[in-house]
Amino acid sequence: MTKALAGTRRTARARITVIHGPNLNLLGTREPDVYGRTTLKEINRKLTTLAKELGVALATFQSNSEGALVDRIQAARESADAIVINAGAYTHTSVAIRDALVATQLPVVEVHLSNTYKREAFRHRSLIADVAAGQVVGFGVDSYLLGLRAAVGLVTQRQRR
Ligand code: DQA
Repeated sequence: MTKALAGTRRTARARITVIHGPNLNLLGTREPDVYGRTTLKEINRKLTTLAKELGVALATFQSNSEGALVDRIQAARESADAIVINAGAYTHTSVAIRDALVATQLPVVEVHLSNTYKREAFRHRSLIADVAAGQVVGFGVDSYLLGLRAAVGLVTQRQRR
């Protein structure tokens, strides 16, 4: 081994899956005072740009249906090293999504555009929070970008172990 390579370790390119839940397909026109005017397509574009910058592989998925979200989370067991999820309203109700996330055994970052803790009481409870590594809430589109950075950090830490 050359001196330059001594002590370095080859790590696989991290694969991150970003999952968007119900009604997030309407971003841009849906309650812009709460969620801003950025569309989901633009959010995914910003995520793709950041993923390139960070040298990670990115997959994105949106569905309004709980079963489809569960299926996609299950699929991530084979195709991802970490999950970033904005489960939308299912955050507050879905045991099925929580269970699917646990079943992946992958690190999970929960994100929300709005600060759910400043809003109605029913949004204060997340069924995902205690199975996630952490939450990023209230920063609009930046919640996703910070969430992606956090997920990459978690994968890198795991690879170093
Ligand atoms: C949301 C917050 C949820 O309470 C709500 O149901 C959403 C969006 C957010 O990103 O702020 O659909 O997840």
